[in-house]
Amino acid sequence: MLVLGIETSCDETAAAVVADGRRIRSSVVASQADLHARFGGVVPEVASRTHVELIIPVLAQATVEAGVELGDVDAVAACHGPGLAGALIVGVSAAKAISLATGAPYVGVHHHEAHLYAALLEDPDAGPPLVTLVVSGGHTLLVAMDDHLRYRVLGQTVDDAAGEAFDKVARFLGLGYPGGPAIDRLATTGDPHAIAFPRPMLDDGLDFSFSGLKTAVVQHLRTHPDAEVADVAASFQAAVVDVCITKLLRAAQVSGIDTVVIGGGVAANTALRARLLDDADAAGLRAVLPSHELCTDNAAMIAAAADYRLARVGPTPLDGGIDPSLRLD
Ligand code: KG4
Ligand code: ZN
Repeated sequence: MLVLGIETSCDETAAAVVADGRRIRSSVVASQADLHARFGGVVPEVASRTHVELIIPVLAQATVEAGVELGDVDAVAACHGPGLAGALIVGVSAAKAISLATGAPYVGVHHHEAHLYAALLEDPDAGPPLVTLVVSGGHTLLVAMDDHLRYRVLGQTVDDAAGEAFDKVARFLGLGYPGGPAIDRLATTGDPHAIAFPRPMLDDGLDFSFSGLKTAVVQHLRTHPDAEVADVAASFQAAVVDVCITKLLRAAQVSGIDTVVIGGGVAANTALRARLLDDADAAGLRAVLPSHELCTDNAAMIAAAADYRLARVGPTPLDGGIDPSLRLD
């Protein structure tokens, strides 16, 4: 079963070919980050126009690297939400066009469902039930996957997403866009205990809040203009990691599930990964950490999720549209 996946929900134009929902035959990601960097964040109109320019070459590279023709694929999938409307339309239109031309069924995939399936691509033993923390630029949520395609959202952010906090703090520190990798790098030279930033809602259930933490960083820099930037980055990152991992382990405990997974761009964070390995080990939980390439946006995760969706639910009608605020449950 060969699935061609397409991902264009934000600022990555990606296409991939995955066999049997588990084996990556090719995965091509064209990042537009450099184009958006000078604006300090993703500009939706620039993203849509760039997806239009990149989608055909990216699709061509994905099929060539997989050694297949478009006509060889058994299904074609695209992320149909949530995301930027003009960006989603490009990937979904390409997938539908291929479906019409080749007769392969079309499958629309939820972006977070795909982040959940990323973990299954590298670990042959990974599978439900599991609890996943999806931490990306637009979302922060804790999801229990009881079975394939059966999800319960256990918690989510009440304001900013974790990645959004990384990006905003990085912009304030003058580190550019995207901010997460820049803070991750700088934090390795700083002291995570230097500043006791707040851990919002740490003891309070499974929801998250990052807006107050971001404000605390800005306030600290205003009152301590000579603060060591690496210490600020490391201390901010430590606060985010503390909240994220504490809540992920709490979610596993309350749901009685013993496999914990991370996904989304922030799951590439070095400190977050190290802390998860330590804490899961101490708690007797199994931790699944997808590689950096599979944490950040890619199309292999779209193809993987589509494989399970096609087998259990069937194809998505070709008149199905996009939904910028599509819900997981
Ligand atoms: O999942 P993703 O690639 O796109 C969305 O669906 O949003 O996540 C992008 C987010 C950005 O906010 C970026 O700053 C953050 O992930 N990110 C990181 C790291 N790499 C990417 N945050 C912290 N540490 C990293 N190493
Ligand atoms: Zn994402």
